[in-house]
Amino acid sequence: MLRIELLSRDHDREGFSCGERDLDDYLKRTARQHNDKGISRTFVLVDSDDPAKILGFFTLASCEVVAAELPPEYAKKYPRKAPAAKLARLAVARDQQRQGFGGLMMVDAMRRTLAVAENIGIIGFFVDAKNQGAREYYEQYGFVALPDHRLALFLPLATLAAALEALGN
Ligand SMILES: CC(C)(COP(=O)(O)OP(=O)(O)OC[C@H]1O[C@@H](n2cnc3c(N)ncnc32)[C@H](O)[C@@H]1OP(=O)(O)O)[C@@H](O)C(=O)NCCC(=O)NCCS
Repeated sequence: MLRIELLSRDHDREGFSCGERDLDDYLKRTARQHNDKGISRTFVLVDSDDPAKILGFFTLASCEVVAAELPPEYAKKYPRKAPAAKLARLAVARDQQRQGFGGLMMVDAMRRTLAVAENIGIIGFFVDAKNQGAREYYEQYGFVALPDHRLALFLPLATLAAALEALGN
């Protein structure tokens, strides 16, 4: 059975490769330290039959948004700076891609973001796409590009909540 859990010492970070060196390096060298220091949270997708093997991972962090950088319809709703959540990283092991694992982790990340919104208050979910392909990947979840940063994308909280509602989450 698939499950998503906080990255720990028990997971085989060295054995993971998604094809993007900086993402692999982050998982191997930095993610656990950042977990320990409370800088961000990295979660891994594993199968309970082989729980050390990392099928994919994602990292969540908080961030501050300059409202003027948002699409105009959102920019005017907020004060000059506003708090948000960020999908700092998302990756699926190269030999496990295109099986829906990215989608599974995305929905889990959205659920966690909604819980933060309900308990602290944030205006939405941000991500920096690595390239045009990644941008299209995020757009299918309702992320919209920031006008002056084509690879920086924003998922408004209402869109996120509606998407989870539609999925019955
Ligand atoms: C991008 C990534 C996270 C997607 O995860 P995944 O498990 O492979 O994707 P899913 O199975 O959830 O994808 C579902 C759909 O998203 C779309 N999709 C998947 N990868 C895509 C990509 N790179 N570009 C555009 N669309 C993509 C497709 O429509 C796919 O459906 P299909 O397989 O029926 O064509 C994964 O491929 C990956 O880790 N890539 C390398 C690292 C990376 O680029 N991370 C993003 C950093 S910004």
